[in-house]
Amino acid sequence: MKYYLNPPDRILMGPGPSNVSYKVLEAQAKPVIGHLDPEFIKIMNEVADMLRLLFGTKNILTLPISATGSAGMETVCVNLLEEGDNALICVNGVFGTRMVDVAERCGANVTKLEAPWGKIIEPDNVKRALKVKKYKFVGIVHAETSTGVWQPLDEIAKIVHEAGALFVTDHVTAIGGIPVEIDKLGIDAAYAGTQKCISAPPGLSPITFNEKSIEIFSHRKKKVQSWYLDLNMIGKYWGGKERAYHHTAPISSIYGLHTALNIILEEGLSNVYKRHLTLGRALQKGLTAMGLKLFVEDEKYRLPELTSVYIPPNIDDKVVRMRLLEEFNIEIGAGLGAYAGKIWRIGLMGHTCNINNIILFLNALAIILKNLGFNCDNSDAINEVYNYIKGY
Ligand SMILES: Cc1ncc(COP(=O)(O)O)c(C=O)c1O
Repeated sequence: MKYYLNPPDRILMGPGPSNVSYKVLEAQAKPVIGHLDPEFIKIMNEVADMLRLLFGTKNILTLPISATGSAGMETVCVNLLEEGDNALICVNGVFGTRMVDVAERCGANVTKLEAPWGKIIEPDNVKRALKVKKYKFVGIVHAETSTGVWQPLDEIAKIVHEAGALFVTDHVTAIGGIPVEIDKLGIDAAYAGTQKCISAPPGLSPITFNEKSIEIFSHRKKKVQSWYLDLNMIGKYWGGKERAYHHTAPISSIYGLHTALNIILEEGLSNVYKRHLTLGRALQKGLTAMGLKLFVEDEKYRLPELTSVYIPPNIDDKVVRMRLLEEFNIEIGAGLGAYAGKIWRIGLMGHTCNINNIILFLNALAIILKNLGFNCDNSDAINEVYNYIKGY
């Protein structure tokens, strides 16, 4: 019996993974070397340097955890939280909810600060919550992938620091798409993902910790309960003189990340952010011109790399998504939780974020929706897109 591996080459316009450049795929096919080979240590150092640029930090402890974004979330929680610690976690979507679950499993006393899905967490509400109780840890999601909300962090960062708490942020969908400013905002610990705007395959989670956070996990009352995610040990493999073995690094994935980061830096971070912002807004204009309603009402809180849009009345979510996939080779994302069947989530992340994909997608969607009885005009949408990006 023979087994054939033959995945289709899709256009990935969902909430991640995004398309991966052939340069990254090629890099992953390069010879595997040992995880302590001096040549590999050099590659690790370069990856850490490039991650510092994307995170906007000089933090020494900056590295990719060997697992997906949820492991980054778990790394910040298991290292910083101990039994009985007070944590305030902001929840306006799936990933804030997940952070609550992870922090509770660390034994923390978690208070949820909630906002409706599609809205930001208001700084005044954080201020109020921090007056009621003393917290060690305040967690928030910068780019909430379940809704498409772009959470401003600057005011909240100040409030959290005035209250003497650690400010911990999720940049899984933010990194490489919108500016991440760890040092400027004084963020104490943060994590990200590789499969969204970085456009490397899923499987690694970049993290960064400042000195204050390092102090906390190096002087814990009890050992970090996860052996695999204990930064006291992982940090000694990624830095310092010794470069001590902890676990076998995912060599090929790190080659891929190295190449993906290099592609971003060659384009230039400001150009990359401009491309996401311009094309994301253009897609949003195109969808609106087609008669669709965007989920996040206020444009300034709408992510460019992930757009949520209401499904028109009497249109079946699954039929449209399956037809996009089967007839046009395009993947988009479904709504989550209470918004399953009510919204679609359209990603324009990293390598996927280009004008051809927008035009193809809007035409494909218009053809399917018209065919299902929804009255819309794709030429209006395309004109809107081109008018918006003129001069880009
Ligand atoms: C904002 C956010 N946080 C965390 C995660 C979890 O990452 P992963 O699915 O890579 O474990 C995701 C994944 O979509 C995300 O979008």
